[in-house]
Amino acid sequence: MGTRHENILGTIGRTPVIRINRLGPPGINLFAKAESFNPLSSVKDRLALGVIEAAEASGELEPGQTVIEATSGNTGIGLAMVCAAKGYPYVCVMAESFSVERRKIMRFLGAKVVLTPASEKGSGMINKAKELAAEHGWFLTRQFENEANADMHSRTTAVEILEDFADQQLDYWITGFGTGGTLKGVGRVLREKSPDTKIILCEPDNAQLIGGGIAQERFDDGSPAASHPSFSPHPVQGWTPDFIPLLTEDALGLELADRILPINGNDALNASRDLARKEGIFAGISSGATVAGALKICEEAPEGSTVLCMLPDTGERYLSTPLFDDIEADMNDAEKQISESTPNYRFG
Ligand SMILES: Cc1ncc(COP(=O)(O)O)c(C=O)c1O
Repeated sequence: MGTRHENILGTIGRTPVIRINRLGPPGINLFAKAESFNPLSSVKDRLALGVIEAAEASGELEPGQTVIEATSGNTGIGLAMVCAAKGYPYVCVMAESFSVERRKIMRFLGAKVVLTPASEKGSGMINKAKELAAEHGWFLTRQFENEANADMHSRTTAVEILEDFADQQLDYWITGFGTGGTLKGVGRVLREKSPDTKIILCEPDNAQLIGGGIAQERFDDGSPAASHPSFSPHPVQGWTPDFIPLLTEDALGLELADRILPINGNDALNASRDLARKEGIFAGISSGATVAGALKICEEAPEGSTVLCMLPDTGERYLSTPLFDDIEADMNDAEKQISESTPNYRFG
């Protein structure tokens, strides 16, 4: 396929797989799939197009109808793009705790952003979206339960991975979960077409909803009935909400995870910084977390193994978060010294 497209939606997917050269141990082939190459810079662009086109096809979404979703950001940004390109009004419900740049990007794309109190957590923003959809007759995309989310990953992400490793056995595939769309959609295709690939599911070490083994309470529609008792706030935005999504539970029921790997938040932040400084790959916190998981696997994997991890989004979305805590806006001492090493165009 060429690079000329009828609209922005044609540019979703076909993201590159990139070798990681300096972070892993010698003798292991470590690769990352960079979802920041999607038009709005995250894996969620795929989901957004998948759920809207499925709803158009089923008639659930009518021309001009308002679309609504509860999201920590990337899904909202993807949906704002898809709705703008297709002409649907879009309302995003988002907890106030997520980064400010995410709200601004959505509003720039023409969306309305309704904030919910941080104290109500992820389930509070979902219940608000349900309430608004029922009151106004809006189409709720239900990203955490919608099969079209996983289907899109089976049709696109999984196929791309198989193509990129057609000539090389893929031994490990590593991901986290936000909705579980990536896990379920890619996982089931790998099981069928690449059965020797081990699937590693990462989650924050202080929010081990899967590893802890406690079941999720649900309503009949599959949505969470309560916040999960193993949840505590963690720095990996986009990963592990305060409940186990239905799509994630489905994936676990299909035995799509060979291993559950807890990841420390600081390790995630540091791996994201290392990706930038040692590989030139600018990715977000969940990407760092997935790389931190991949590096643990690399330590244990037999020599010659090939490992692929997902990089869900770009670091640019985290300028106001702890990821940038050690980045100053003003010149530091080393930079001042450089400035002072020649006589002109300097301060004071
Ligand atoms: C930054 C980030 N990382 C990871 C994920 C996980 O993707 P998925 O929803 O397919 O599980 C998401 C989405 O939830 C995300 O926004």
